[in-house]
Amino acid sequence: MTETNHISRVETARPNSESVVIFDTTLRDGEQSPGATMYLEDKLQVADVLDAMGVDIIEAGFPIASVGDFEAVSAIAERAKNAVIAGLARAIEADIARCGEAVRKARRPRIHTFVSTSPIHLQHQMNKSEEQVLEIIARTVAQARNLVDDVEWSAMDATRTPIEYLCRCVEAAIRAGATTINLPDTVGYALPSEYEAMFRTIRERVPDADKAIFSVHCHDDLGLAVANSLAGVAGGARQIECTINGLGERAGNAALEEVVMALRVRGDAMPYHSAIDSTMLTRASKLVSAVSSSPVQYNKAIVGRNAFAHESGIHQDGMLKNAQTYEIMTPASVGVSKTSLVMGKHSGRHAFKDKLRELGYELGENALHDAFVRFKDLADRKKIVYDEDLIALVDDEIVHA
Ligand code: KIV
Ligand code: ZN
Repeated sequence: MTETNHISRVETARPNSESVVIFDTTLRDGEQSPGATMYLEDKLQVADVLDAMGVDIIEAGFPIASVGDFEAVSAIAERAKNAVIAGLARAIEADIARCGEAVRKARRPRIHTFVSTSPIHLQHQMNKSEEQVLEIIARTVAQARNLVDDVEWSAMDATRTPIEYLCRCVEAAIRAGATTINLPDTVGYALPSEYEAMFRTIRERVPDADKAIFSVHCHDDLGLAVANSLAGVAGGARQIECTINGLGERAGNAALEEVVMALRVRGDAMPYHSAIDSTMLTRASKLVSAVSSSPVQYNKAIVGRNAFAHESGIHQDGMLKNAQTYEIMTPASVGVSKTSLVMGKHSGRHAFKDKLRELGYELGENALHDAFVRFKDLADRKKIVYDEDLIALVDDEIVHA
């Protein structure tokens, strides 16, 4: 790793980098986050933004779950201009039929069907044997393929499934016509090295593995969802399932904005690119946060309020000299207008002077010194010193000078 690759607003894929498809499940897995239920109008707005920003596949909902979900998936299917529209279905005949109906009007419809494969799920949740599950996979994937050409099959709890059995399940799904194979880390249990190895092994051992695209779907229970997603890509996956702001079940899913920017900023080390217009990430984040009533933490990577804010004097000084000293991508590249140098007790004289100039004040050396002392005193008492505080402080300084 040498010099930082400072990512600017206009981006082109690096030569020789392979493309990775982005599958957004904000409207399905994201909505499964407690309290994140969205209204139809909100979902349409989110889908429009996802479609416009270049998301390849939008998972619009779980049509059998409710009439509202069915209607949302159908409406999104009808209006999407570019993206593939997917609906989720359990490995149950009625689910798949309902899903097929919901995505029917999409220009590019997909049925995403799943079944659990891990021993703990087979025993405690499904009460089925391994052979029974293999038969279910073959039958339900074939049913979905009779309805649409694009069928994704997911092995729920793949990362806690013995690899030999997982290979047999994947083989059955590909033979029945699945075009995408998703191997989720449903409970956020895997480590990156394990997740990467799982993809390598499956792709080596399963006959006809190259007929399908492999997909990652990671949950964040150990805070590893993004790292695991990138590891899965290193292991051969070429689809990343993710959500805006990492919204999703429990600790959430891999955050779309993080995987997209990781690939973009570190394309030198990971030669893969997505088609996402990253300048729309902040807008998408704000919209999803508002309609799902899910605030974004201040220090959230890429889209958090503090992602491009600097308070320490050393950092502010560096930023004023060269933005690459403390930022690895430009704010503009993710749709933020500019870096903010926040005035607080850690701020230095250089940033203070620069801020005053921005507010229209050019103070002489002595006045600047006095104002800076008073600012530090104020900053010790106040968490954030706003522009108005500075204006009041400097005006006062000028009056009393
Ligand atoms: O986490 C999971 O396993 C899922 C599947 C339905 C793909 O969300
Ligand atoms: Zn999930």
